[in-house]
Amino acid sequence: MYLGLDLGTSGVKALLIDAGQTVVGSGHGSLDVSRPHPGWSEQDPSHWIRACEDAIAELKTSHPRQFAAVKGIGLSGQMHGATLLDAADEVLRPCILWNDTRSHVEAAALDADPRFRALTGNIVFPGFTAPKLAWVKNNEPAIFAKVAKVLLPKDFLRLWLTGEHISEMSDSAGTSWLDVGQRRWSADLLAATFLDEKQMPSLVEGTHKAGGLRAELASKWGIGAGIPIAGGAGDNAASACGMGTVSAGHAFVSLGTSGVLFAANASYLPNPASAVHTFCHALPDTWHQMGVILSATDSLNWLSEITGKGAGELTSELGDALKAPSGVSFLPYLSGERTPHNDSAIRGSFTGLAHESSRAVLTQAVLEGVAFAFRDSLEALKTAGTTLTRVTAIGGGSRSRYWLKAIATALQMPVDIPADGDFGAAFGAARLGLIAATGADPLTVCSAPRTDGTIEPDAALGGAYADAYHRYRALYPAIRAVTA
Ligand code: XUL
Repeated sequence: MYLGLDLGTSGVKALLIDAGQTVVGSGHGSLDVSRPHPGWSEQDPSHWIRACEDAIAELKTSHPRQFAAVKGIGLSGQMHGATLLDAADEVLRPCILWNDTRSHVEAAALDADPRFRALTGNIVFPGFTAPKLAWVKNNEPAIFAKVAKVLLPKDFLRLWLTGEHISEMSDSAGTSWLDVGQRRWSADLLAATFLDEKQMPSLVEGTHKAGGLRAELASKWGIGAGIPIAGGAGDNAASACGMGTVSAGHAFVSLGTSGVLFAANASYLPNPASAVHTFCHALPDTWHQMGVILSATDSLNWLSEITGKGAGELTSELGDALKAPSGVSFLPYLSGERTPHNDSAIRGSFTGLAHESSRAVLTQAVLEGVAFAFRDSLEALKTAGTTLTRVTAIGGGSRSRYWLKAIATALQMPVDIPADGDFGAAFGAARLGLIAATGADPLTVCSAPRTDGTIEPDAALGGAYADAYHRYRALYPAIRAVTA
């Protein structure tokens, strides 16, 4: 048995697979996000441990015999978070998360230093880790002075699991301190934020062993002390391992809290100007590109909160048949946007509201707005040299057929639906755990799931969607002009 642990933004998932990669069971622990000021987004790292223990307890209760047979663990996690530890490994402040934009001034300053784009292959986005440390130095100097280690969220879980400070390439590529082409920390980029390599974890590939389970946890959980923990991956690269998106030509669209259009590449293909992210993949010597939108299911959840209707209820009000865009447009920039705008100050909007704009019309506009944001990412990937012909859908939002039809029609390409099952980040993490424990061939293990159906673009609505996308594109500069 192999265990995948995915530390998401809204919860931790523990997923158990057997040696033949069949999912045996899963457990869940919930997490909240704290937003103490506009643009801030934080979590207390001790809550990750609690959620992880909850997820494992649930799994252990439902599958005691199978859980006792765990031989390897893989980790996946929300990317970019800055977890700051002192010399005794005590947490210095709440973790500043991937969708926190407070460090936009520091990010712009670092991005203006040409070494960052040249070595990392990416814009220094405010959500990335380095500008967060620059913000802490400027605003909380006493805390900055005590920083002995900076860990990404899942690597903090690893510290708890193993007692070691270790990270891997895919997540570290999102810090703005990694030389992404060479797959090693850059002393120059660290020095530009007044840090050095001693404050960073050591690095392995995601498929390699990165520590063994501490005896105390092993005896508490009734599994072997020292069983290998794989390097694992940032959640998007982990999902790609789960989906078999590990070689060029394969791509997925992920409808999670954030939205990601992810393409595996044969080589390192940086193109920072497009606002596409170019990161190391979890497999040795591979890379990937992705367009990232900050609020995907988060946009629908926001509408759900203010209407008091569950997200599922909102989408079911639309029925199954795709409708022509109503003239109401939604920009999903609730916490700014990464691809293609790199704009942390922009905010969302509804435009075109009329007396007859019902709740269903607003829901439709939200789903279309997110679909058009993916279209923006598709265009950005094209600029960065990657042309897609089809994508596979994953993530909680992909349960809505309406949303998938809107995405297929906005992207003008078929969207494949994987056969029933769980092929997300936790599954990818479990696969990495299996590889690290057995030495199995990563490309053989990371195969694609069977496709259970394909959603084709709606031919009759192609023109109406093209017009609506045109309006959507025109709205960003207009809203930007009136944004403080
Ligand atoms: C990727 C990103 C998000 C988080 C979500 O760059 O910030 O997709 O990884 O967990």
